[in-house]
Amino acid sequence: MQALTRPIKLIFLIAYVISLNSCNPGNGGKIIDYVKVSDQTYLSVTEIVDGLDVPWDMQYNPTTNSIFFTQIKGKLAELDLETNKVKELYQVPNVYHHRTSGLLGLAIHPDFSTKPYLYICHTTKEQDSLFSELRRLELKDGKVVANHLLLKIPGGSGHNGSRLAFDNHRILYWATGDIHSMTHAQDSTTLNGKILRMNDDGTIPKDNPIENSYVYAWGFRNMQGMTFTSNGNLLTSEHGDAIEDEINWIRPLHNYGWIQIEGYHDTPEEIEIARKSPRTEPIKAWTPVVAPAALKYYSFTQVPEWNNSLLLGTLKDQSFRILKLNNKQNQILEEDVFLKDKYGRIRAITVDKKGNIYISTSNRDWKPQVKFPLETDDRILKLSRVDYKPTSFISKEPKQDNEKMDAKTLYQSYCASCHKADAKGTAGSFPSLIQSNIVANDKNFIHTILNGLTTTTANGQLVYDLPMPSFSFLTDAQIADVANYIRTKTTIKNPPIDVKFVETIRNQKL
Ligand code: HEC
Repeated sequence: MQALTRPIKLIFLIAYVISLNSCNPGNGGKIIDYVKVSDQTYLSVTEIVDGLDVPWDMQYNPTTNSIFFTQIKGKLAELDLETNKVKELYQVPNVYHHRTSGLLGLAIHPDFSTKPYLYICHTTKEQDSLFSELRRLELKDGKVVANHLLLKIPGGSGHNGSRLAFDNHRILYWATGDIHSMTHAQDSTTLNGKILRMNDDGTIPKDNPIENSYVYAWGFRNMQGMTFTSNGNLLTSEHGDAIEDEINWIRPLHNYGWIQIEGYHDTPEEIEIARKSPRTEPIKAWTPVVAPAALKYYSFTQVPEWNNSLLLGTLKDQSFRILKLNNKQNQILEEDVFLKDKYGRIRAITVDKKGNIYISTSNRDWKPQVKFPLETDDRILKLSRVDYKPTSFISKEPKQDNEKMDAKTLYQSYCASCHKADAKGTAGSFPSLIQSNIVANDKNFIHTILNGLTTTTANGQLVYDLPMPSFSFLTDAQIADVANYIRTKTTIKNPPIDVKFVETIRNQKL
């Protein structure tokens, strides 16, 4: 960029001051940060809505120039982008909310002006059974006038998946979760752990790959993001267990491996399974996990550096990521990380017709991270290009080297999302490690990290809702490091655990 001449500099300065002071609730909102994309491109971050309760999905609707969004406890609302005002539309009846279940995915009919339909999915409870329902709502004069059940499948208190997306042929796709089942994902005859494909009235399309079945692809654990690229590729984001979060390129009848394979086919067992019957690898996987959620294809000149990229919001990692695609839109060439730990967990992303980006926080959900929720959470933030250079800004994160993690980073990457940074856990969900008898016993401690743990009551119920995953993929040295780090937070005085000891416990295979 050329050096600016004086008068221009002055104009820029005035524009900057005006924009910073314009807390105009009409259509300005409040600029709270700037982001540097490159020397040429800076974005403002504007807070346009606050005080929400876990906005789960947001979809921009060009017909009304508004964003429709769901909140996990059952509210459906519309954000008018002319005024930045939120209008409550509907309290969805019979929403069962517990932890990650509730009112989840949302899609807008592509022909909204003639077919004013919103598609939602949510959890319901009948006696002791949970279900996921896919419903079509009809809007008239800004009100919901009809609510039709299109499809009902088994639900769970977790792993309900539930993103929705339309392709260019008005066909609707529903990404369903495995509801913690050991069998659904690999069983092509059930509807959980699948990509389901249907007409806009919920019927099975004649050209589905399996006759008379919604099932389009399978082998999924818990997809939390789904988007179509401009050439029609369907891409999803998915949560791995303790390792291997994924981005997948979805194709008909492909099997994506879960529960037999996690992430890349990189262990001898996985290679053998995939040799016997074909499994499709992700186009990207993360270990340590980031908890990828919102996924949105971006193709606008407003932020030319991000053209032909996926915008990704992450929960655990609390970041906004740019995944640059190749021309065929089926490979990820590059990854950049923005906004790390800045606004907390990011669950939904949408883009308006000009290429402005909207992200929503999820800091009032069941897993708030340190320092969150803020009083203003949850928020919808708008990223849009400014034509001046701000005096202070957030830059992208430097690339991380996972191989050389110190003990604290290991703990933060692999344990803190559940046991918390202070190792005190969360009552009822994740035990504290501070006063744990297991942590106090060298052998039990290392055995637990290597093999995971599932404690059940006398009648077979889980004591904690989730099992503790196995971390056997960490090296012996990493396990010793993380164990000794945890002990620094306790009063335990045992001598440090060494690498040899971890190796011995690993080989005992108790
Ligand atoms: C996905 C959530 C999750 C992550 C990540 C996780 N844990 Fe756990 N952990 C649990 C749960 C849940 C339990 C309780 C399991 C049970 O008893 O059924 C547990 C139990 C434990 C216990 C036993 C505590 C006690 O007294 O019962 C230890 C020790 C432990 N975890 C260590 C670790 C370490 C070290 C890491 C990181 C390498 C880690 N955990 C990562 C969920 C997690």
